[in-house]
Amino acid sequence: MHPAIEVVGVEKRFGQFTALAGVSLQVQQGEFFALLGPNGAGKTTLISALAGLTRVNAGSLKVMGLDVVDQYQEARKALGIVPQEIVFDPFFSVRETLRFQAGYFGIARGAVLDSWIDELLAKLSLSDKADNNMRQLSGGMKRRVLVAQALVHRPPVIVLDEPTAGVDVELRQTLWGFIRELNAKGHTILLTTHYLEEAQQLCSRIAMMKQGRIVAMDTTEHLLNAFSERVLRVKIDGELSVALLQARAKQDGGWHFFPIYDYDEVETRLAQLRASGVHITNLEVAEPDLEEVFVKLMHK
Ligand SMILES: Nc1ncnc2c1ncn2[C@@H]1O[C@H](COP(=O)(O)OP(=O)(O)OP(=O)(O)O)[C@@H](O)[C@H]1O
Ligand SMILES: [Mg+2]
Repeated sequence: MHPAIEVVGVEKRFGQFTALAGVSLQVQQGEFFALLGPNGAGKTTLISALAGLTRVNAGSLKVMGLDVVDQYQEARKALGIVPQEIVFDPFFSVRETLRFQAGYFGIARGAVLDSWIDELLAKLSLSDKADNNMRQLSGGMKRRVLVAQALVHRPPVIVLDEPTAGVDVELRQTLWGFIRELNAKGHTILLTTHYLEEAQQLCSRIAMMKQGRIVAMDTTEHLLNAFSERVLRVKIDGELSVALLQARAKQDGGWHFFPIYDYDEVETRLAQLRASGVHITNLEVAEPDLEEVFVKLMHK
């Protein structure tokens, strides 16, 4: 079985500036994969190269085993891209925009296409806007149309570049429900997002990019375990004993942080606090989180 996405040694320069400095990665069919990194890391550049919109200076890219340069048409058909930037013909209606996009991929107009378009519109809560012109939509609605547009030719590989920027909470949940459904049906998903909790919840594997390079790539679970820890946080009345001060990892905003490895340790720590005579006024157990992983990797 081909990987869904295969990127080998990709370099991209804009004049003197290197946007991609040798990127290699494989996403297997059926994966839900996150590509994360700060602004300017090179995520969108890599996605443009996958879509065959940007010619790279070195390396190769394949989608479902199809080379994005030598087999441009087939590779492009295998891919549905939700772009970061919103660009539309303002005079088309939502439905026409989707029909036009389908035509671009050689899909005949007719009942089959129309019922798929209706389903997409319903899934994305756009049914009541189907006959509105694109310029009559709000920003978040335009973004939903971009999602529908990416899916209209039923591509096996779906790439979402910041799909939830400016999208309200409810639609974000609907959108992720729908994308998860597609993933469960076998579609491969590549996602970029600055909402790290979304990536943490949705994606089984993550690549982190920084200045045109991949600086970490692993399962979400491994990354969390390697770079983040579970902590017990308490606010207290009173002074910590010397032993507890030594056990404390840090304090921040009135919170004292104690690393813990399992939940039994919470009991032990709380018993120690009680025995030392301090009164606990607030308490939380925080699970490892991707934001901490991200910050650590970006400052390495
Ligand atoms: N057409 C271009 N000409 C010159 N430089 C470019 C061009 N496109 C991108 N760049 C530069 O390449 C770098 C990577 O940009 P890219 O859009 O891939 O970042 P990104 O990871 O998608 O960031 P963001 O999270 O902000 O979307 C940036 O420094 C950007 O300024
Ligand atoms: Mg981008």
